[in-house]
Amino acid sequence: MLLRLSVRPTRAGCWIPVAAALLWATASCTHAATTDEPITPLPAALAANPLRVALGARLFSDTRLSRDDNRSCATCHDVGANGASNRSRDTTPDGIALNFNTTTVFNAALSFRLGWEGKYRTLESQTDALLRNPQIMGCTPETIAQKLQGNVSLTADFEAAYGRGPDATNVLDALATFLRTLTTPGSRFDRWLEGDATALSTQEVAGYALFKSLGCIACHQGVNVGGNLFEQQGIFHPLARPQPAVLRVPSLRNVATTAPYFHDGSAPTLRVAVRKMGLAQLNTTLTDEQVDAIVAYLGTLTGVYRGKPVGAPE
Ligand code: HEC
Ligand code: HEC
Repeated sequence: MLLRLSVRPTRAGCWIPVAAALLWATASCTHAATTDEPITPLPAALAANPLRVALGARLFSDTRLSRDDNRSCATCHDVGANGASNRSRDTTPDGIALNFNTTTVFNAALSFRLGWEGKYRTLESQTDALLRNPQIMGCTPETIAQKLQGNVSLTADFEAAYGRGPDATNVLDALATFLRTLTTPGSRFDRWLEGDATALSTQEVAGYALFKSLGCIACHQGVNVGGNLFEQQGIFHPLARPQPAVLRVPSLRNVATTAPYFHDGSAPTLRVAVRKMGLAQLNTTLTDEQVDAIVAYLGTLTGVYRGKPVGAPE
């Protein structure tokens, strides 16, 4: 059995599970800690060319990005809600359930790898793969660019943003530029990290203390409360579908809004997910009181997008 759970603070203030430290070494401290805590607040979104962001946002909900012009990125990733869908698994164009639950696009830019298996390192390569994937969009960036060239208003937007009409490169760049703006700072937990002691209730603070003392923090940590390690799933007891055995630890940012949970979408509620995590990953049967406190804590990780808490009704 690999023992991955011991944690130690480094001099720089980042916390690294000992066994993972070797794999992770250089990436670990990219988001410099602003407090002594093993989780750091989300930074404000980086400045980006507003014309490219607006164009990317437009493409994100454009059905011409799909083979049959009948689905867009927004079909599965609702940025007006949780950045994902509320289905356990979305479907292929033929209506068959996908292999994986849809991950939220919020804060994806801050994870070290993308997708449940962490196959992609950049938003451009993840997006390129999703576009080409016949189960998702089924259309190459080259074909999409050709389709878009037929539209006068979109072509004008591309010319304004890139000095040329749509092509495979700027289609991917516009989408990735938009995705990078999808961060959700301003959660109550971040305000607490930044020194506002009134931002959390006693129960929420107790939940965070448990999250650390039980060892959740060994895997869920850093700016995205996850998204910076690969780990086994189902270490002590079965968790979800046993394959893939190793996953990128998911980010828990906005997790209260992203039910259902796990790579196969098998946990319907956060309570179920937390209880299963305790048993499967830490060999700990959590009491109801512990589950309540941790769930309350996780609720403080909901941030703000475009002035509105993530997942709140319009
Ligand atoms: C049919 C549903 C569906 C559509 C349409 C879709 N996605 Fe996804 N998206 C998924 C699923 C499922 C995953 C997880 C895939 C995996 O882990 O292999 C995902 C993962 C992602 C991720 C990785 C997030 C992370 O944190 O790892 C990004 C970024 C993303 N999608 C962006 C897009 C963009 C951009 C489009 C449009 C070009 C798009 N998606 C269209 C279902 C969809
Ligand atoms: C050994 C590493 C590890 C530990 C320790 C750990 N987790 Fe996880 N966590 C994971 C992995 C890997 C997944 C993805 C599992 C899957 O999808 O099958 C995950 C998934 C989750 C999810 C679901 C996220 C989503 O979007 O679907 C929640 C919630 C969660 N963990 C909370 C916790 C809590 C609370 C603790 C402590 C009681 C904890 N985790 C301990 C590695 C860990």
